Amino acid sequence: MPLSKRPTLTQYLIEQRRRFPSASGELNALILDVSIACKAIARQVAYGKLGEDAGMRRGGEVNVQGEVQKRLDVVSNEIFVSLAEWSGHLAGMVSEEMIDPYQIPGEYPRGKYLLVFDPLDGSSNLDVDVTVGSIFSILRAPDDVVSSGRDVTEADFLQPGARQVAAGYALYGPATMLVLTVGNGVVGFTLDPSLGEYKLTHPDLRVAEDAQEFAINTSNARFWEPPVKRYVDECLAGRTGPRGKDFNMRWIASMVAEAHRILMRGGVFMYPRDTRNPGNPGRLRLLYEANPIGFVMEQAGARASTGRQAMLDVMPEALHQRIGLIFGSKNEVERIERYHREGTSRDAPIPLFVERGLFRD
Ligand code: AHG
Ligand code: MN
Ligand code: MN
Repeated sequence: MPLSKRPTLTQYLIEQRRRFPSASGELNALILDVSIACKAIARQVAYGKLGEDAGMRRGGEVNVQGEVQKRLDVVSNEIFVSLAEWSGHLAGMVSEEMIDPYQIPGEYPRGKYLLVFDPLDGSSNLDVDVTVGSIFSILRAPDDVVSSGRDVTEADFLQPGARQVAAGYALYGPATMLVLTVGNGVVGFTLDPSLGEYKLTHPDLRVAEDAQEFAINTSNARFWEPPVKRYVDECLAGRTGPRGKDFNMRWIASMVAEAHRILMRGGVFMYPRDTRNPGNPGRLRLLYEANPIGFVMEQAGARASTGRQAMLDVMPEALHQRIGLIFGSKNEVERIERYHREGTSRDAPIPLFVERGLFRD
């Protein structure tokens, strides 16, 4: 398609809104603000090590997760906040990099949506110049927040992922992309660097139901639960094992980039619940990692799960709650869920696994 014929993100959103003549356009405006924040973050990320020369803040503080914030974690968070707080569409925000919900300052009007985000996912990959991204989720604020204009509380954000109005991610890789769902399928835009505009390049992203590629950090194998060990062992056994086919494996360590690969060519991603740290049953965060990616996956015909239940049905208990996350090609995720139903006790490992286990303690 000639470049000039490709709709921009703005055109796409206007066309979507025409399907709902009564819509106010606030959601579109909010998504555009997020898309501009992502453009600004893409520029910051592109400076790499040179970004430090500008004398900007350096990071090094510890965030609510107990993780050391990189300079670009902090910068990206500030970009999201400053580009989204002023517009009057938001009642509040939650971010990986802020302990408490962010209140819209008094000088700005308050709106009916909540924005939840991971400003920079995969930031351990910054030093090695590997793809990172931003993840966002948009929820409706509870009615009484909208009618009273009161400050938001943690409880206002504890909504299951099925209630998301929109979600998506930006990817800062060889190209900058924005992938979005407003509950009507999944679309992908590529940032045209010469125009500074997102152009529609992937009008209907669908994930293949079957796959032969999996992603998991195998250095955690000794902490996995039996259903996960069983699944991985069977993949590794390849053509001569119970699956009767060979599998490929990838691990980028930027979940957002793994999600994108799966959208492009199928596969399954697992950062499952494990026993490494009893206080944290998983590594990834429910509200701003698992839920938005889960919504994108479900809208693309894939599946997102804890292993035990659909991710989007989980009732959140805390803003920064961690959870086991499995997503990707539907038949693979359903198989892993079946393995969880068939046997989850560490005391009663599945016989097949005991015989064939390649990752036994
Ligand atoms: P973040 O940079 O936002 O803290 O998230 C990083 C996450 C996720 O993107 C990735 O899949 C995972 O951490 C990698 O974890 P390991 O280092 O344990 O592989
Ligand atoms: Mn992250
Ligand atoms: Mn992050």
